[in-house]
Amino acid sequence: MVVGPLPLLVLPQGGVVLLADAARVALAEGSSPPAPSPAANAPFLPDAPAGATKGTQGKLNSLKTSKKEVITMMDFSVLESATSKFNEKNILGKGGFGCVYRACLDKSGVAVAAVKKLNCCREEVEKEFENELDFLGKIWHPNVISVLGYCIHEDTRLLVYELMQNGSLETQLHGPSRGSALSWHIRLKIALDTARGLEHLHEHCSPMIIHRDIKSSNILLDSDFNAKISDFGLAINGGNHNKDVIKPSGTFGYVAPEYLLDGQLTEKSDVYAFGVVLFELLLGRKPVEMIGESHCQSIVSWAMPQITDRTKLPNIIDPAIRNTMGLRHLYQVAAVAVLCVQPEPSYRPLMTDVLHTLVPLIPLELGGTLRVLSAELRPGAIAGSSGNSELSTIVIECGRRHSEQVAV
Ligand SMILES: Nc1ncnc2c1ncn2[C@@H]1O[C@H](COP(=O)(O)OP(=O)(O)OP(=O)(O)O)[C@@H](O)[C@H]1O
Ligand SMILES: [Mg+2]
Repeated sequence: MVVGPLPLLVLPQGGVVLLADAARVALAEGSSPPAPSPAANAPFLPDAPAGATKGTQGKLNSLKTSKKEVITMMDFSVLESATSKFNEKNILGKGGFGCVYRACLDKSGVAVAAVKKLNCCREEVEKEFENELDFLGKIWHPNVISVLGYCIHEDTRLLVYELMQNGSLETQLHGPSRGSALSWHIRLKIALDTARGLEHLHEHCSPMIIHRDIKSSNILLDSDFNAKISDFGLAINGGNHNKDVIKPSGTFGYVAPEYLLDGQLTEKSDVYAFGVVLFELLLGRKPVEMIGESHCQSIVSWAMPQITDRTKLPNIIDPAIRNTMGLRHLYQVAAVAVLCVQPEPSYRPLMTDVLHTLVPLIPLELGGTLRVLSAELRPGAIAGSSGNSELSTIVIECGRRHSEQVAV
């Protein structure tokens, strides 16, 4: 895709067809294949993304990629009316830098989108906006959110995305429904989709992209619970192109220890954050919980002693899915989660290894290779299965190694 040059297509009132076209073109040219979020979960210490320049206008004018796609520049008045003047009733969620609104772009209500409104009083906001356009303009993958348009209006910056009907994974897990809409297999499918999106960034983009802010509020779910990675505001090019020590950015509870403490950034930082999301999916707990008034504890340090003990693991699983899965599969997923959050980055798997481990655990109709027999779905029939001793050993060994080191 190409972002700019300006001026591009200014949509007239009712120019919905063009937006729908932009989405369709992106789909056709794909490469390989509501409770508001708490602002307290916002990123900290954002530093300059790769290639950020002063002045959005100049940046957009100069942005070119290999694809001849265009992200549509949209008229402010169109977005204003599509969101009923950014009415509170249309708020889908709140982030650290502004709100995301549901937008209805035609009278029939068929052409819907999500509009993120950023107020550019701070330099980080301008950089986040540029970074989103820069990265999302170049990436196309079914498990990465699509950006359909943008708008620069005085101090306001707007990004228009495909609407994800089921909101964020964070809202699904920790909002009013407390994970009840997410079965065991749907949770594994969400993990698999996220792993596929990350594998694309790490293995198939050149230079490699490190997302740096993988968390449940940045994993969005469509009407069928297909998951897509969003929020590329902190993304950065990694690999051999970027050997500098980089000032840590990300969200507390998800940041890998070596990056937080020494600024060492590799794709394994995203693997760590993915592991924390797996813990959330398994346990239904938030990544960081308050204990008392002034102390908080990460899900990793809380769960590690129990998740690595086969007798304790079933009892700490999210009550919304407890006893609905076979123990052998539960041990396997727990083993993957434990490996992903190893303090030593080289012990963590690559995303490609993670997704190959998950695929056989997910039913065929959800994109995996598991053939589910109806008898297997009865919790009582499998809850007492013996498990896989090899994987259990991995879990136990990882647990020991982890407890010897400092957990973040
Ligand atoms: N395309 C979308 N479709 C549906 N809901 C969305 C979409 N984009 C964002 N949201 C909702 O809006 C919320 C806020 O998004 P945003 O990315 O601004 O902030 P965040 O990820 O919650 O926090 P942060 O500022 O730390 O990134 C999301 O968590 C999600 O609930
Ligand atoms: Mg976000």
